[in-house]
Amino acid sequence: MSGQGDVYLNGEFMPLAEAKVSVLDRGFIFGDGIYEVIPVYGGRLFRLAHHLQRLDQSLQAIHLANPLSHPQWQTLLEELVRRNGGGDQSLYLQLTRGVSARDHRFPLNTPPTLFAMSTPLAVSAEAPAPSHAITVEDIRWQLCHIKSIALLPNILLRQQALEAGADEAIMVRDGAVTEGTASNIFVVRDGLVTTPPTGQLLLPGITRDLVVELCQRHQIPCQEQRLDEEALRQADEIWLTSSTREIVPVVELNRQPVANGRPGPIWGEISRHYQAYKQAFREGREA
Ligand code: PDD
Repeated sequence: MSGQGDVYLNGEFMPLAEAKVSVLDRGFIFGDGIYEVIPVYGGRLFRLAHHLQRLDQSLQAIHLANPLSHPQWQTLLEELVRRNGGGDQSLYLQLTRGVSARDHRFPLNTPPTLFAMSTPLAVSAEAPAPSHAITVEDIRWQLCHIKSIALLPNILLRQQALEAGADEAIMVRDGAVTEGTASNIFVVRDGLVTTPPTGQLLLPGITRDLVVELCQRHQIPCQEQRLDEEALRQADEIWLTSSTREIVPVVELNRQPVANGRPGPIWGEISRHYQAYKQAFREGREA
């Protein structure tokens, strides 16, 4: 879609090839910025209020003022969706602390850089490719609740997973499972669904929260509780969640099958509820 559609940069819509930022942008120089990824279904922005709230939390955490109100964001993003042909899309938006001489201290009177683009949303809802994951040490910093554009640890760990013949790395810090490099984690054991509690050590995923909500709505026992590596080894099911891949069953962990090595029945159930929720959203029956 990018290429034929437009992107947004600092107040203007334009073709991707025309969108340029200075090499002195603090996003480029320092990774000094934050981002969001918002799925679009049937031309509608999915869970927009939740994404904008998390955007505010990220901005607050890095002491950057939000240059736009929520209604202004909505207008901007809806226009971007429209210019990219509606339907299903994945929106990426990024704010950095703007352009200034390279200096670690915050610049004064410098407007942030605002960028947003649309990319195709490639989810195969009926049968997502199951994941083969490995566990790795969580080598990130202490503020993983911020959706920071500085993703070097995530990139290194994802690459490590790929080179080990897997597709995702599940991170473990001080014996506690945190999340995937671009996903949250759920474990099922004896019919009970568990996901680690939010806090500063993982990203509060919008998909994660919806999965917890859907478990509650459909009487699937679910708790937010610390998980250790042993819980992964004993799991009947493991799922990874994200806006771009929804709910993905992990069928192999560290080259061992998870249970019988096939997506589990509770994954089947929660996926059906998730797809029904999405369908209702497309038709305007869910906010
Ligand atoms: N990443 N944890 C991390 C570290 C992530 O990067 C993501 C999403 C998630 C899931 O969050 P959500 O359900 O709100 O998408 C959890 C996005 C998709 C990305 O970086 O492309």
